[in-house]
Amino acid sequence: MSEQKPSDTVWHNGHVTSGERAELLGQQPATFWFTGLSGAGKSTLAFLLERELLNRGRACYVLDGDNVRHGLNRNLGFSSTDRSENIRRIAEVAKLMNEAGLIVIAAFISPYRADREMAKAIIGADKFIEVHLATSIEVCEQRDVKGMYKKARAGLIADFTGISAPYETPEAPSLKIDTSQVSPEDALSALIRLLLAKE
Ligand SMILES: Nc1ncnc2c1ncn2[C@@H]1O[C@H](COP(=O)(O)OP(=O)(O)OP(=O)(O)O)[C@@H](O)[C@H]1O
Ligand SMILES: [Mg+2]
Repeated sequence: MSEQKPSDTVWHNGHVTSGERAELLGQQPATFWFTGLSGAGKSTLAFLLERELLNRGRACYVLDGDNVRHGLNRNLGFSSTDRSENIRRIAEVAKLMNEAGLIVIAAFISPYRADREMAKAIIGADKFIEVHLATSIEVCEQRDVKGMYKKARAGLIADFTGISAPYETPEAPSLKIDTSQVSPEDALSALIRLLLAKE
């Protein structure tokens, strides 16, 4: 893949400000960044939150790990290099969506602290809301929603987070949710409170 030097291109300013977009949509853009083990509840809560925000008249969109790997990131695997590139691209997309005025809900295992820091730097600390789905590996493995833990234990999946690849716990997330202890309804309420507090 050839990379253009930044000096080869210029930034072209448009004629619409972020303030005008916010006024049009009646909301401040932000990105919820859901991180946690496979089966922790990221996609489940992301899509419930999207539904709830739409019900409340907010324009939002879910960027989901599995879905994004069907298209934009279909050429990436699960090595640490590919995981970083996965997160970099998603963060850039989230940034663009925020610039368009949308509230973004990104649901990615994103196991490496450095990659989440990169996402925060790209999106902007003022817009980035880190949410740790802190459900334990034991519960996630017992759920085994996709049968992946069983395959990973059998040695059929390399680099599986929590089994054969690391998960680096967030040090200071905006919110921590253990879905084995908190109902989806209560988790949603906490997420909405977090967004309202930012406005
Ligand atoms: N309180 C809860 N909140 C969210 N999910 C819950 C809760 N209690 C049980 N679950 C169940 O946990 C599972 C979470 O799976 P989900 O696909 O959302 O995980 P994920 O974090 O997106 O995993 P992956 O990284 O593999 O995509 C679902 O089957 C869901 O029904
Ligand atoms: Mg998911």
